[in-house]
Amino acid sequence: MEPKLLFAINGKRFEVAKVHPSTTLLEFLRTQTPFTGAKLGCGEGGCGACVVILSTYDPVSDQVEEFSVSSCLTLLCSINFCSVTTSEGLGNSKDGFHSIQQRFAGFHASQCGFCTPGMCMSLFAALTNADKSSRPEPPDGFSKIRKSEAEKAVAGNLCRCTGYRPIADACKSFAVDVDLEDLGLNTFWKKGVEDADINRLPRYCRSAISTFPDFLKSEIKSLLGSLENSKDVSFPECHWYRPSGIEELYKLLNSNEFDESRVKLVVGNTGSGVYKEKELYDRYIDLKGIPELSMIKRGDSGIVFGAAVPISRAIGELNKGKERMFQSKESLIFAKIAEHMDKVATPFVRNMASLGGNLIMAQRNQFASDVATILLATGSTVCLQMPSKRLTLSLEEFLQGPPCDDRSILLSIHIPCWSSTMESCSEANQHTISASTSEPSILFETYRAAPRPLGNAVSYLNSAFLANVSMDKNSGDSVILDLNLAYGAYGGEHAIRAREVENFLIGKVLTASILLEATKILRKTIIPKEDIPHSNYRSSLAVGFLFKFLGPLTKELHVPEKNLHVDTSGVFELTGHPNGKIIGNADTLVHRESNCTLTSSLDDILSSRQSIQFSKDYYPVGEPIKKVGAEIQASGEARYVDDIPSPKDCLYGAFVYSTRALAHIKGVQFNSTPSSPKVIAYIGAGDIPKGGQNIGLDVLNLTEVLFANSLTECAGQALGIVIAETQKLANMAAKQARVKYSTENLEPPILSVEDAVKRSSFFEIPPFFRPQKVGDFSKGMAEADQKIHAAEVKLSSQYYFYMETQSVLAIPEEDNCILVYSSSQCPEVAQKTIAKCLGIPFHNVRVITRRVGGGFGGKALRSVPVATACALAAFKLRRPVKMYLDRQTDIVMMGGRHPMKINYDVGFKSDGKITALHVDILINAGITSDLSPIIPLNTVTALKKYNWSALSFDIKLCKTNISTKSAMRGPGEVQGSYIAEAIIQDVASFLSKDIHSVKMKNLHTYDSLKLFYPVSAGDVPEYTLPSIVDDLTSSARYSERLETVQRFNGFNKWRKRGISWVPVIYQVTQMPTPGKVSILGDGSIVIEVGGIELGQGLWTKVKQMAAFALGQLWDDGSQNLLDKARVVQADTLSLIQGGITSGSTTSESSCAAVRESCKILADRLKPVKEHLEAQMGSVSWDNLIVQATRQSVNLSAHAYWVPERTSGIYLNYGAAMSEVEIDVLTGATTIMRTDLIYDCGQSLNPAVDLGQIEGAFVQGIGFFMCEEYVVNGDGLAVSDGTWTYKIPSLDIVPKEFNIKVLKSGFHEKRVLSSKASGEPPLLLAASVHSATSEAIKAARLEFLAIDKPDGSPSFFKLEVPAIMPVVKELCGLDNVEKYLENIVTVCSSSGSLTR
Ligand SMILES: Cc1cc2nc3c(=O)[nH]c(=O)nc-3n(C[C@H](O)[C@H](O)[C@H](O)COP(=O)(O)OP(=O)(O)OC[C@H]3O[C@@H](n4cnc5c(N)ncnc54)[C@H](O)[C@@H]3O)c2cc1C
Ligand code: FES
Ligand code: FES
Repeated sequence: MEPKLLFAINGKRFEVAKVHPSTTLLEFLRTQTPFTGAKLGCGEGGCGACVVILSTYDPVSDQVEEFSVSSCLTLLCSINFCSVTTSEGLGNSKDGFHSIQQRFAGFHASQCGFCTPGMCMSLFAALTNADKSSRPEPPDGFSKIRKSEAEKAVAGNLCRCTGYRPIADACKSFAVDVDLEDLGLNTFWKKGVEDADINRLPRYCRSAISTFPDFLKSEIKSLLGSLENSKDVSFPECHWYRPSGIEELYKLLNSNEFDESRVKLVVGNTGSGVYKEKELYDRYIDLKGIPELSMIKRGDSGIVFGAAVPISRAIGELNKGKERMFQSKESLIFAKIAEHMDKVATPFVRNMASLGGNLIMAQRNQFASDVATILLATGSTVCLQMPSKRLTLSLEEFLQGPPCDDRSILLSIHIPCWSSTMESCSEANQHTISASTSEPSILFETYRAAPRPLGNAVSYLNSAFLANVSMDKNSGDSVILDLNLAYGAYGGEHAIRAREVENFLIGKVLTASILLEATKILRKTIIPKEDIPHSNYRSSLAVGFLFKFLGPLTKELHVPEKNLHVDTSGVFELTGHPNGKIIGNADTLVHRESNCTLTSSLDDILSSRQSIQFSKDYYPVGEPIKKVGAEIQASGEARYVDDIPSPKDCLYGAFVYSTRALAHIKGVQFNSTPSSPKVIAYIGAGDIPKGGQNIGLDVLNLTEVLFANSLTECAGQALGIVIAETQKLANMAAKQARVKYSTENLEPPILSVEDAVKRSSFFEIPPFFRPQKVGDFSKGMAEADQKIHAAEVKLSSQYYFYMETQSVLAIPEEDNCILVYSSSQCPEVAQKTIAKCLGIPFHNVRVITRRVGGGFGGKALRSVPVATACALAAFKLRRPVKMYLDRQTDIVMMGGRHPMKINYDVGFKSDGKITALHVDILINAGITSDLSPIIPLNTVTALKKYNWSALSFDIKLCKTNISTKSAMRGPGEVQGSYIAEAIIQDVASFLSKDIHSVKMKNLHTYDSLKLFYPVSAGDVPEYTLPSIVDDLTSSARYSERLETVQRFNGFNKWRKRGISWVPVIYQVTQMPTPGKVSILGDGSIVIEVGGIELGQGLWTKVKQMAAFALGQLWDDGSQNLLDKARVVQADTLSLIQGGITSGSTTSESSCAAVRESCKILADRLKPVKEHLEAQMGSVSWDNLIVQATRQSVNLSAHAYWVPERTSGIYLNYGAAMSEVEIDVLTGATTIMRTDLIYDCGQSLNPAVDLGQIEGAFVQGIGFFMCEEYVVNGDGLAVSDGTWTYKIPSLDIVPKEFNIKVLKSGFHEKRVLSSKASGEPPLLLAASVHSATSEAIKAARLEFLAIDKPDGSPSFFKLEVPAIMPVVKELCGLDNVEKYLENIVTVCSSSGSLTR
């Protein structure tokens, strides 16, 4: 009998006889088990949504080992005899939730909830491992984990909603060194009122979860003898082989059945996250069964790692000895290697990713490896097994050799001890050591410049340097005796040794001129390939790192002589030697700070303060209650569309999209591949049923086609969908589709707004969406003392990056009806479009949306074509069809924020008061208009936040051949608000005035506000911005900190700080919204609203409102109805006119509709209650409902809330101040602190609003600082996955994040005095950008003394996003060389340069 795969999931036994070897654990979990906690967010190891715990059991030692893994990369066949724990296994609604889940809920750390199970699992793994350590026992209720470790535990997991602060708090609440008082708003204690006490927190009990079931232990024990025989863990039925030795491996490879097959050797399979598999392999060989590949040997000459050793295990081994009091030099160097490896990927990838797999990818695929670079510097060797021989090669030889074929096996890696590497070299260079020379010192340092400081991002360049240096005690000269300089990831073929630089430096005394010469040789050595982005930046990093390493050893640089007139303090601060003297021995030198992507310490803990004024006026409205369903979100039981079990006969669809901007489609063909038989159909424009139409969206009297007919008009346009038996096969087939294009007789596509202007390609802006000018521009210009003409600002796009991609399940029903579950922000639009596409009445289409894993506008209209395509396929095939877009397709097809080009003329007085502004705005709307007609109005409305005195504009909505741009959170407003800041900044720079005073000069008075916002300004007391700005600048001590920043900049050359604040005025419009409230016989309440729960807390607020409104029946509000209310999914056939959940106001509109419905019910219940009270004295809710039911009172009420035309538009106010620090050598920006004040009126739920504020702000950081949206020559998005599209992670948010949720009192025309919070705070992230600009200005002023990096030091434009290369470029890509040249010149002219 063939062996079966045996494992446990959440304590349940699973035995699998046959499965395709490519099946991942995630696929199995999601399709073959009831567990939905592990989510698919990216499928490439980059997001953490799929994290589960994998446990192994050693029957000999009776020990269980647990570690986190990304289940999207882990292959099912590789988990034989393992136990898997998903978030449901941690805790669930039936057995009780785990304290991790409860604390995530109670700290408000789950919004849409899609990331939450993965976060919980990452934290659980970290707690478990910390608690297994030999550290002292923690006090009861705490883990042994430390705060910094708890925070780091989830640094590799992405969240697009929360802004991470509450997640960090939930994690830190377990830490032994936490001060609970420091944690943020939570439901466990009332901050400032009750003591923060561990006993108030859900109790953490270490042994509560058994990750390895006893039955599996017993089975493993009973197999003890045979387990060692690896044949038992090969699964020939599954085409999965696990040889137990090299000989057996080659026997397999040479056997006949392998000849014709596509064979894949695997260890951790994480490489498939890097290089996506386009077709299935037939057979897999698991190398982990070969003992030689999994051993670790430590000896005098160093450490030998088997190639299959996971990186995390290697880190553990390298760190051994680190914690000893007297560390050996070897252990320090090994610990440095470990420290660098700790930034490779994420814990859940490193736990599976092998050292050998990494090196093979570096060698064979030119992967930008960190491992290769650091091991290259240490002089490591590898042992390579070829079919006929075994070779030991230096890593350099290995990397330089021809790409390994799939019969070459990497066996082991030897990392030598420093002494063995360097001893011979130092002997060779003895002649350079004079009598006064000290003992040679070994220095080892590694560097990486990457978008994320703690990992989960490949570097722009990495390097590792090993040096043997001697210092002359008398002169302080440093002589390089030997040197290994390794560079990698910069876009060369592989990591290299900079040999010429090494040879040049060896034997030399380090001086500024020698270092300068070395940088010149280095520039000629580190040359990225032609197509590598930011190539100049990468070479400048190479120089910067060399300078970081050798600068402190260079005498002229570390002795600040007054006559040099050069401030070198920055150099020493970077290296931890502020007094300019390098003292100590090799050990202290190897301890130098090496991380250059984060200028402050990696152990910095996020800190935060929240100031919230609560209101009891409308109890329980106004209470910071936790989000509805937060615990089931954390346990993974909350259902998103893809979690709905696939119905019988379900098929799966994937889009085939155009990769060309404008072309005739001449045909779509599919290769015949092994998976072809599983492909069922291709559905295209020809499949629209009779009576239907080829439409994918029907809104605002505009339609767009579903599938391109014969002409594609943009890259990313849907051509059709492939239908297959599984989602994986559908995705593969769609990617393999060969589309034949022809551009015959076609004009070139319009790809830019400039092209659109040339060819007059515009969408019309309807009159009611046209913004209004203010004042007389010409007159204002005439009054100006100074003018700036035709200044330009360019803004690029931003992708939504909701964690759940677009998903749909369409089920054909009887009588030509169809049921569609869609992750949509507008089911009503989907219903209408689907009906028109299928040619059936609207009432035949039921669209249901329960919850959405993040929307941000991307699941508004853009979800509709996806739902329609899926419905069409289901309708045509008469079978259920599911579509869950892979991340790449989602990025390519869904578009994002509108790119813009802006030119402006501004006139101003010498004191900074602006007298007139004219802006020309070209908006790139893409190929269809979607919601673009609202963008001009939104942009100008947000731009009006300053008093420009007179404002005119010309706006064009350009129709181009790129993917449709839709309404992303703060659509148009983000750009408008930023344009305003850019103009203020230019005016300040022009006048050489500080930006703060120019802002203050141009803030609105109430009178000017009324002029610019005639409809929405409201009454005088409602204009809270001036007091917010006063409060912010005084509470965040702007003037004092500005001085500190300036002092810091005076003392530091290579690090600069900036501080800035920005205000926001954000207009919102309430929309008509339906609501329905029904009371059931047991007194429970069911609520339906038009709004969709996207994570923004809509359901929570609605529940509070229903409890408040129905509770009004009792004067004292004594009936707590909160727990009786339940909000249910949106269903287009149950509640009509749901509209679109967008514009920040759906929660309050839904609340208003619910309040009206409740009022109707209360009016019906009141007479019953009065009657009962007359009889019984008092009456409870339950009793009242029983009686009302008996008396046939209609207990269901529906309302359609329509806001008043004038008061439905209002303004929101806020301001934020940020302080940043930039690393002038790498361009890395660290956000040191942000203070933010936001007026929420009287918040309906301050915890929800706080979450919206923080989350929006961090999403804004993404737009302004991180997210580079790159397209190719056809306009096709190429930053199309977690590898290249970098949303903020926990390690880039402000280190200190202080928020004040302002309660601005009574607002008569608002819903219970509340105001919106969903979008406006996003705009405030411009404060980070503005502060970065200030820091760059300081850097440019510093280096102006040497050379002008690029024009005037203070007049420059910082692009959006201000990613590392952009910041560095503005600071000067060659500032190190310029600096050294200057020193050399000064030294030689002062005669101090004697060598
Ligand atoms: C999200 C993510 C982020 C990452 N970030 C980084 C990073 O910042 N820096 C960095 O350096 N790396 C990074 N990596 C790469 C990671 O280190 C490698 O994917 C991993 O080490 C590969 O090991 P594996 O065991 O999973 O290899 P597998 O995926 O199993 O194999 C990879 C390839 O190597 C072959 N192979 C594996 N072992 C051997 C062997 N012993 N002999 C011959 N062939 C072999 C396989 O056949 C396959 O072709 C990242 C990976 C992911 C998924
Ligand atoms: S889905 Fe596995 S890491 Fe993103
Ligand atoms: S709550 Fe984290 S992605 Fe939505």
